[in-house]
This record gives sequence, C-alpha cells and structure tokens, in this order.
Amino acid sequence: MKYFLLLSVIGLCWAQYSPNTQQGRTSIVHLFEWRWADIAKECERYLAPHGFGGVQISPPNENIVINSPYRPWWERYQPISYKICTRSGNEDEFRDMVTRCNNVGVRIYVDAVINHMCGEGAGSGTGSTCGSYFNAQNREFPAVPYSGWDFNDGKCKSGSGGIENYRDAAQAKDCRLVGLLDLALGKDYVRSKIADYMNHLIDIGVAGFRLDASKHMWPGDIKAIVDKLHNLNISWFPEGSRPFIYQEVIDLGGDEFTTSEYFGTGRVTEFKYGTKLGTVIRKWNGEKMAYLKNWGKGWGFIPSDRALVFIDNHDNQRGHGAGGASILTFWDARLYKMAVGFMLAHPYGFPRVMSSYHWPRYFENGKDVNDWIGPPNNNGIIKEVTINEDTTCGNGWVCEHRWRQIRNMVIFRNVVDGQPFTNWWDNGSNQVAFGRGNRGFIVFNNDDWSMSSTLQTGLPAGTYCDVISGDKVHGNCTGIEISVSDDGNAQFSISNSAEDPFIAIHAESRL
Ligand SMILES: *[C@@H]1O[C@H](CO)[C@@H](O)[C@H](O)[C@H]1NC(C)=O
Ligand SMILES: *[C@@H]1O[C@H](CO)[C@@H](O)[C@H](O)[C@H]1NC(C)=O
Ligand SMILES: *[C@@H]1O[C@H](CO)[C@@H](O)[C@H](O)[C@H]1NC(C)=O
Repeated sequence: MKYFLLLSVIGLCWAQYSPNTQQGRTSIVHLFEWRWADIAKECERYLAPHGFGGVQISPPNENIVINSPYRPWWERYQPISYKICTRSGNEDEFRDMVTRCNNVGVRIYVDAVINHMCGEGAGSGTGSTCGSYFNAQNREFPAVPYSGWDFNDGKCKSGSGGIENYRDAAQAKDCRLVGLLDLALGKDYVRSKIADYMNHLIDIGVAGFRLDASKHMWPGDIKAIVDKLHNLNISWFPEGSRPFIYQEVIDLGGDEFTTSEYFGTGRVTEFKYGTKLGTVIRKWNGEKMAYLKNWGKGWGFIPSDRALVFIDNHDNQRGHGAGGASILTFWDARLYKMAVGFMLAHPYGFPRVMSSYHWPRYFENGKDVNDWIGPPNNNGIIKEVTINEDTTCGNGWVCEHRWRQIRNMVIFRNVVDGQPFTNWWDNGSNQVAFGRGNRGFIVFNNDDWSMSSTLQTGLPAGTYCDVISGDKVHGNCTGIEISVSDDGNAQFSISNSAEDPFIAIHAESRL
C-alpha cells in the first residue's frame, strides 16, 4: 500500500516534465521538415538501434502555402486548420509513422502551433496544404471553425494591433506576433478546439508537444489547455501517463515576465544554454571552458528538471529567434561537435539534438538573406532523405544526428544515465574533463596548444575505445585507445589540431 502511494505521488510530480522516453533513452532529435515516411524508416533503421529516445517533428497540421518567397520553412508556422495534412504527409502517413516509431520504442513529439493562425495579410482562398478555405481579413477559418470572435483583436492594447514592445507582457501575449492572427486562448471554445487537435494526436500515440511561441501565450491559458489533454495511448505508455510538454519561452533576461511562470505546465526551452555554450566554445568575451565547472544553475539557468536544452534550433541556426551570432551549428562543424558532445555528457537538462538540411547561406550586411529557404524539394514536394553508402544522408539533408561523434555521444548519455557529475579537471584555460560516476569520462582540448595529462577517470581499469575518433566494432576499436590503470588514472594526449579535439570513453566502449 505504502509502496503504491509512493509510486503514484512520484507519477504525479513527474507528470508533464517526463519525456515518456523508453527506459534508458535520454535524448531526442529534431528531424526538421522531414516527411513522415522518412521518419518512420529512420526510427526503424537508425534511431532505435542507436538509442535515440524520440523525434520532434515539424508541425503536422494544415498550413498556408506561401509562394513569395517560394515555400519558406516558416509557412508551417502559419496554421489554416487542424487537419493532419502538410508537405510532410497526410494523416495515414502520420499514423503509420507514430505506430512504427512507437513499436521500436522511439517517441514522437509534435511541434504544436496554437498561439496563432496565419498572417493578417494572407488574403483569402484555398491556398493551403490541404485546400481548406480561409479568409484572413475576416478572421474566417471554417475548417476549424474559427471566426472573428476567436481572436484577440479587441484585447490587444497596442496602437498597431501588433506586438510593439516585446518586454511588455500584455502586448507580447495579446497582440499579433509579426502579424500572425492571435487566437483568443482565454475563450473556452478556442481552448477546446486546440485540445481536440492535441487529443487527436495523443490518441494516435504521440508522447508530447513542443508548444511553439509559448512566451506569447498566458501561462494560465496554457494550463487550461493542458488540463484538457488526454492521458497517453495505453498501447505504448503506462496507464495514466501525461503528455510531455516543453514550452518555447525565449528568456535571455530583461523581460517583465520570466520563464518560471511556465514551470507549472511543463518544461521550458533554456535558450541561455546554447547561447552561452557557443560563446564559451568560440572563446568570445574572454570565456574559457574552465568556467564550465559550475555549468547549469551556476550560470543562472532554470532548474535542470525544468529545462529542455539544445545547442541550436531551427530558428537560431539561421539567425531567427534568440541567441545571435554565438550559436554554433553544422556550419561550424568542429566546434559544433564539441558543444553537442559537452551537452550530451553533462547531466543538466533534457537534451534535443538538431538535424538540419543544407541551404545556400549568403550574408549581406551580416544577415543571411537566404534564411527563409525551405527543405530540399522538387517543385515544392519535399525530397526523400536518401542514405549514402557511408551512412550519411543525401539529397541535401545534413543529418547531424548520424555524425559518428554526435550519435556516439547520444549513446554515451544513455550509458551514464543517473550517474553523478564527477572528477572535474581543468587547466585554468580551455582544457577540461569530467566524468559521470564510474560509467563515463570526457576530455576536451579547446586551447591553441596540445594537451598531455594524466587524469582521474573514475572508471574501472581496462582499455577503452574513444567513441569520438572511432567505434568499438566486434570488440576492436577503430579509433584512439585509452588505457585506464587500476587506480582509475589514464593518460590523455589531444593535439590542438586533431580533427576532433576531444575524447570520450564509457562503460560500453571498454574493449
Ligand atoms: C491507441 O492506439 C491504438 C493502436 O493504434 C488504437 O487502436 C487505439 O484506438 C488508440 N486508443 C485511443 C484511445 O485512441
Ligand atoms: C593549460 O593552460 C595553461 C595556461 O592557462 C598552460 O600553462 C598549461 O600548460 C596548460 N596545461 C596543459 C596540460 O597543457
Ligand atoms: C580484432 O583485432 C584482432 C587483432 O588485430 C584481430 O586478430 C581480430 O580478428 C579482430 N577481430 C575482429 C572481429 O575484427
């Protein structure tokens, strides 16, 4: 009886903060703009075998089609209805993806765009991904249906009807974000329509939601919607499981409202994480990796069990949203791999790995004029994610999650799950190391000179395969081998000109 009570209390407290990943899977990947058919295959052929916990997908509901510029990625952030019908696929394909991914223990998280509909200047017609009629001027979205009563036009107090001062809470939440028609989330009717959409997805089998533009919604309105959500589908989840909720709140400080206001409904995207780590690894502003010793709350971040962390996301990898120039992306691959490696080794937060597509980046006056370009496509139809002989992706897909260094650190995090942060070492500069109990150890040399040091790893004696420079294959190592002596010490030599100036070893990479 006592045991049962204890369990249910833990269950309740954990609730929407738990990612609902399968036991031992500790990170998710954002497969930005992928088709559902490709995600289903990727779950089976790659994500499950390599221990990925789940996938954040692009918004699955019907959106406006924008032809000028031509089919930008951001058209998916302009909903027309809640029909599952986009360039990524239709409802049958969506169901097939969710079923197949769940069947191999990989969860699906939906990017839910519920703050707004399309832009006020979008005109009218049937130019949407499913052909539903809309009239933006009259606020008519009959496929939901929403009408003029369902928007915040009367509530917004700015002169223009748009957000003029982002730091002002009422404007940020009641006015139009870059012209997007702002839904009246205070109305029970609107809340119910949104909850119906999300419940439809929950019943199909999704494990949770990223709530887009959460900063532009009142925490109380989000709570009212989340309270209406079903428990997860018992075909794949324990009875009583709540959807994982992580809210997009960009808080780099200075607003009249704070991230903590959103802790009641779920986790929050910690934007300071990638911004600061990018600054440190780029060695800007006098930052050094040695300062990462108290990474996490010591850096003014939100509590670890409320944080969803990432190095870059689909916005700030192209200069949108927050973070600025310090954000590391696949364009700076060498530094990026170190940042992702650090994130996955460090216990703070629940991590999301980014998986991108290439676009012809082109800077004019410091701004990428091609920041709008949508996914690889043929006449608007998203291209298949093809897989090359060497396991990388073709057709313009970057697939950072398939890079050996990143994929192996996803496994590292699973192997060290639950272990404490231990054996920190630094040289006062950019050579640092830390362990995770007796299960894993990682060493970085981001200085401009080589390092050679004997460090306490906390690991049992043995020869270990470095999972950054290689893989353990059939008991042999294709990369650097590290020998840990009986007292737990090991010698690490890392040249500052190494392809990847870091080394990671863990219990399962022991030879
Ligand atoms: C849960 O998923 C199964 C399998 O797809 C489906 O048959 C069932 O109807 C779903 N449950 C709910 C409550 O929708
Ligand atoms: C670490 O950096 C310091 C300078 O801060 C340098 O003197 C030292 O040699 C470096 N340590 C190693 C092991 O390279
Ligand atoms: C591993 O390496 C050893 C020594 O080089 C070699 O004899 C053995 O065949 C290798 N094993 C496999 C499975 O490749």
